[in-house]
Amino acid sequence: MPEVPRFVPLAFERLDEREQLARSRTFLAEMRRRRSVRAFSTEPVPYELVANAVAAAGTAPSGAHQQPWTFVVVANPKLKRQIREAAEDEERHSYESRMPDEWLEALRPLGTDWRKAHIEDAPYVVVVFEQAYGRRADGSKIKHYYVKESVGIAVGLLLASLHDAGLATLAHTPSPMGFLREILERPENERAYVLIPVGYPADGCTVPDLGRKPLDEILVRR
Ligand SMILES: Cc1cc2nc3c(=O)[nH]c(=O)nc-3n(C[C@H](O)[C@H](O)[C@H](O)COP(=O)(O)O)c2cc1C
Repeated sequence: MPEVPRFVPLAFERLDEREQLARSRTFLAEMRRRRSVRAFSTEPVPYELVANAVAAAGTAPSGAHQQPWTFVVVANPKLKRQIREAAEDEERHSYESRMPDEWLEALRPLGTDWRKAHIEDAPYVVVVFEQAYGRRADGSKIKHYYVKESVGIAVGLLLASLHDAGLATLAHTPSPMGFLREILERPENERAYVLIPVGYPADGCTVPDLGRKPLDEILVRR
């Protein structure tokens, strides 16, 4: 027998228009302050801030509501050291011989290199895994739909939530990232998606002087 879908009333709060505009402007101003941070202080961060942000990420829409994500919150210094060493190994290879000139050229304004001290300095590193497929209780595979799109949306919520809580982040994608599944002992259906150091910026932290595309370049009104 196919399962009959169940419905519940939507918990929707209708705001008056002034309130809508005020909220939307406040959110935009806050998001405009978000920057990728690559120099972290070792100052501790309350764990609940990170757990709440992961919970917020877990509210993301996902293909067929399969929620194909796992967030591993790493605070253990030995694990962070292992992750840093493995990431730097891969990044050194990439910067020295794997990245084509065009890629290196695109990265030049960011001033990045293979050194990744942020992985050890930040009090938390959130490693996001996508679940390429699921498993039923009997061990058979469950096909997952729109995995990358779903995880990308969840990561967007995670970054916005961490920023809103007054924390700094970086979306870091050392390539390839297979070592993360091994170090963090994740199952074979999980693939590392992004690694996110979370904490406070180091004293005197600077960021690349980047502009953003203006609204009329990214918004098409028809
Ligand atoms: C999918 C993705 C992968 C990224 N990978 C890296 C990375 O491996 N290393 C890094 O330093 N920054 C990485 N970044 C950060 C971008 O360089 C950064 O978002 C961009 O330069 C804009 O700067 P902002 O975040 O301060 O606005 C990544 C960002 C995204 C969205």
